Amino acid sequence: MNSDSQNASRGPARVLSTDPASLAEAARILIAGGLVAVPTETVYGLAADATNGAAVAAIYAAKGRPSFNPLICHVADLAMAESLARFSPLARALAVRFWPGPLTLVLPRKPSCPVHELATAGLPSIALRHPQHIATLEIISRVGRPLAAPSANPSEQLSPTTAAHVAAGLGSRIDLIIDGGPCVAGLESTIIAPGEDGAVMLRAGALARSDIELLTGPLRSPDHAAGIVAPGMLRRHYAPRARLRLGATSVENGEAFLAFGTPPSSVSPSLNLSIRGDLAEAASNLFAMLRTLDESHDAIAVAPIPSVGLGEAINDRLKRAGAHAHKNEL
Ligand code: TXA
Ligand code: MG
Repeated sequence: MNSDSQNASRGPARVLSTDPASLAEAARILIAGGLVAVPTETVYGLAADATNGAAVAAIYAAKGRPSFNPLICHVADLAMAESLARFSPLARALAVRFWPGPLTLVLPRKPSCPVHELATAGLPSIALRHPQHIATLEIISRVGRPLAAPSANPSEQLSPTTAAHVAAGLGSRIDLIIDGGPCVAGLESTIIAPGEDGAVMLRAGALARSDIELLTGPLRSPDHAAGIVAPGMLRRHYAPRARLRLGATSVENGEAFLAFGTPPSSVSPSLNLSIRGDLAEAASNLFAMLRTLDESHDAIAVAPIPSVGLGEAINDRLKRAGAHAHKNEL
């Protein structure tokens, strides 16, 4: 499976069609933690089991994303969505009217939501979408868990709308491509955050504003002051209360030490992101370990993390997490 954190090339991915045996194979790979590119009505998605931190880390590694933007989680039906997030009456009305389809809803995560924190970038909210392609719905149902899936292209390249696009961009970095034909919309989903009083449009997309406004009234623009923005645009995402000191090789009074790999002999680490120095493992531990140390300490010293592969995204996230009160120290 896709455990190579450094994105080693592994030869071209297999391409299968949408017959039942192929969809069963896709589900088997996903359950085992692999990466499968799947068709949707908007663009092809690079899917992984959203509850598996290592699998989600492999998405970021394959895309070469320099930061952990939160990912959209794809569900098989409204019932699966309601097991993950709290639906207000307006959110439910939007889902009933437009799902399955090119609408993503950003909603409060339920405490019992099993989606890995790396997929939601440590946020208290989750982006959910019930896509329209029958092959992908069948795969999600077979997996029985939500699938995290950003567009199946290398970071900063165009979103793919055919299996051939996916193969050209990511072919050697993923386990399987399901060819479901060209995407109907060819444009990503529209992202909406329904609120107490109307709704905010976080990303324009394949579902027209005017259709949504029939239910929501006038859509507002992201309000940076209220913190309701697509997190990719924020300098600070999940932020611990504790002060963060990055690149630390020693511990000061009162600090917890978050290690990576073998710690200096003078330091006894509080937690270790990855004892064997594996960046994918470190990525999948990052948010949970910061949270744990934040509960017991006012300051966290974080060991140096090499800025290669997923390390770049880990360092980006650590800088953002430490950005709030301590901007001047970065
Ligand atoms: O059409 C689509 O939506 C495609 C197909 C594959 O379904 N997927 C897609 O996913 O575009 P992705 O992961 O690339 O989109 C992520 C977008 C980002 O702009 C991110 O900031 C926003 O969704 N997003 C995700 N979680 C969010 C959250 N909790 N709050 C606000 N925005 C969120
Ligand atoms: Mg994209």
